[in-house]
Amino acid sequence: MVEFKNVCKAYENGTLALKNVNLNIDKGEFVFIVGSSGAGKSTFLKLIMREETPTSGEIIINGRRLTELKHKEVPYLRRDMGIVFQDFRLIPKMNVFDNVAFAMRVVGANQRYIKKRVPYVLELLGLKEKAFCFPNELSGGEQQRVGLARALVNNPKIIIADEPTGNVDPRMSFEIVSLLEKINQRGTTILMVTHELFLVKKFPKRLIQINKGEIIHDSKFEEVHYES
Ligand SMILES: Nc1ncnc2c1ncn2[C@@H]1O[C@H](COP(=O)(O)OP(=O)(O)O)[C@@H](O)[C@H]1O
Ligand SMILES: [Mg+2]
Repeated sequence: MVEFKNVCKAYENGTLALKNVNLNIDKGEFVFIVGSSGAGKSTFLKLIMREETPTSGEIIINGRRLTELKHKEVPYLRRDMGIVFQDFRLIPKMNVFDNVAFAMRVVGANQRYIKKRVPYVLELLGLKEKAFCFPNELSGGEQQRVGLARALVNNPKIIIADEPTGNVDPRMSFEIVSLLEKINQRGTTILMVTHELFLVKKFPKRLIQINKGEIIHDSKFEEVHYES
């Protein structure tokens, strides 16, 4: 589902953010990405979303070679992705219902389906009572759940979350990851950057550690590593 072959990313100012990254993430996996600040975690996700392009190497997402992807094809790539931001990025002038519905309108969903689907997703995330509240009337955890609802509503193949628990307390972090786990069990691939080690310990998932632009640990290959 996500394949990196010898991927390097240097920013225009010369910063080498990723060096020779090789990996494969299969459909249905749940992957935590960890590493200190500046390690290259966000760059890794931005390359997948095609917010950035690699300096060299090949990235293949859902069978699409990103180097060959035309500008006008990027929206189709993103349709398969649900993106959760650390700072939520809700639209302040829209209530919860409309924030979520907006994500569906953007991809041209019809009104009848929106009316059915949005309440279903809000219910799933425990936000039914908040449907007509505005973002500034919600707690951080609630806002993040709206962010999650928006990422989920179009049934993406993959959810990409860059420190989605960065602005909420540990209990809410735990709930957010529990929700992601439920979504993962229905077949959605999850990629989540976090620096909260208690989450990584509580939820035994594949763990990729990036340090100074390089993958220095990938728990998927632990067994193979020990045997050789
Ligand atoms: N747009 C950019 N231009 C120049 N350098 C950048 C840019 N974005 C990130 N970097 C640099 O690339 C490195 C990796 O950054 P990033 O991927 O954001 O790390 P992380 O998310 O792990 O904290 C850092 O040294 C950072 O300063
Ligand atoms: Mg980052």
